[in-house]
Amino acid sequence: MKILVVGTGAREHALVRRLSQDSIPHDLHAAPGNPGMEAHAAIHDVSLGDSAALTALALELGIELVVIGPEAPLVAGLADDMREAGLTVFGPSKAAAELEGSKDFAKRIMSEAGVATARSMTVADPALLEAALDDMNPGGSTPYVVKADGLAAGKGVVVTSSREEALAHARDCLASGAHGSRVVLEEYLDGPELSVFCVCDGERAVPLVPAQDFKRAFKGDEGPNTGGMGAYSPLPWLDENAAMNATVESIAEPVIRAMRERGTPFTGLLFCGLAATSEGLKVIEFNVRFGDPETLVVLERLGSDLGELLQAAATGDLASVPDLAWRDESVVAVVLASEGYPLAAQTGREITGLDEVGEEGCTVIHAGTERDSDGTLRSSGGRVLSVVARENTLEGARVRAQSAIARVLLEGSHYRTDIAERAALGAIERVTQL
Ligand code: AMP
Ligand code: GLY
Repeated sequence: MKILVVGTGAREHALVRRLSQDSIPHDLHAAPGNPGMEAHAAIHDVSLGDSAALTALALELGIELVVIGPEAPLVAGLADDMREAGLTVFGPSKAAAELEGSKDFAKRIMSEAGVATARSMTVADPALLEAALDDMNPGGSTPYVVKADGLAAGKGVVVTSSREEALAHARDCLASGAHGSRVVLEEYLDGPELSVFCVCDGERAVPLVPAQDFKRAFKGDEGPNTGGMGAYSPLPWLDENAAMNATVESIAEPVIRAMRERGTPFTGLLFCGLAATSEGLKVIEFNVRFGDPETLVVLERLGSDLGELLQAAATGDLASVPDLAWRDESVVAVVLASEGYPLAAQTGREITGLDEVGEEGCTVIHAGTERDSDGTLRSSGGRVLSVVARENTLEGARVRAQSAIARVLLEGSHYRTDIAERAALGAIERVTQL
């Protein structure tokens, strides 16, 4: 199949790499791509924001399936433009992408569909903020959760025990208007987090294996929220199949039904960000695309063909896809971030040592990298690359990933040394309520 993957990040590199391993060979293309994808796909220098040029490229190449990676073009309507041009697309329409584009919209759909999530209030008037904060967190005994309504590249959410900080973030969100002029205040959900991706064709949902992401910048879950600093799968602290079934039955299917009834069916990847609470799984957030870095570990475990799955979803034909096969091994991904990330990332620095990562039996997935005119690989973003290790045991994968990432040299860079550590040690209490 002739496939175009749209995007520049680790998620898209992982998609391209996994597609290149399908049993049926594909003709792979990526736009705008990154240097890591060069080994598997033809790279086309077309801007992510240029919907007309991306559509023209896909038509010109005779692309049979377009896979749109990031949320911004989806929320802007790239999938609609491409479908109008007659292309087959994996990714939701602009209307369906509102599940990620507006946290308030997602909350309304969940309420309509009877999906369990944190109690919340959407506020537009600064005068109402204090009362709403106190209502969500009576007595101030748990952390405050404050979210900008619109897309904010993982930086719109503040979870803090400081009422002052919560109020300041909420006021900032309303004053800047940068991510919508509303703010969503939520009750705090206790319990470990997990991500379950569901491949959807507008009517059905096929779950992928759960993964856990590490959102905070530093070891021990210290520091600010980031796009994600590492991930692992499987999660030894829960029953994988039970979690996948519960996610499909009580979350994905009701949401898909609600979206279809509104006349805006959801086709693409429904990313369910969940908390395993004492009352069962509750939704923390939806995204409308593969997660990053979770995709790196989930796809590394996939034993079935990916192209066939995504094409079936894009054409409303998931019913015809056989059950997915999964590798029993454990996978750990660790993200290498630039100095200063996530606040002010320093970029443009040389990266070396990637061959040594390969010698350690690990894979490098690129995110914020670029080649300069003489071919030198340099950092170009906050999250620069990830090292992915697959092993028989989670501890084995964790140790191998740590040893390999230490070989990568990038001045000032940082990574977490505790990705999957508590899980591998058995320190996360087993979740039985799903
Ligand atoms: P979001 O962008 O909505 O996923 O929020 C980013 C991160 O903030 C999540 O991955 C959680 O770690 C945390 N978070 C968000 N909402 C809540 C909540 N209601 N309770 C506890 N933690 C939350
Ligand atoms: N890792 C979380 C996300 O992709 O939003």
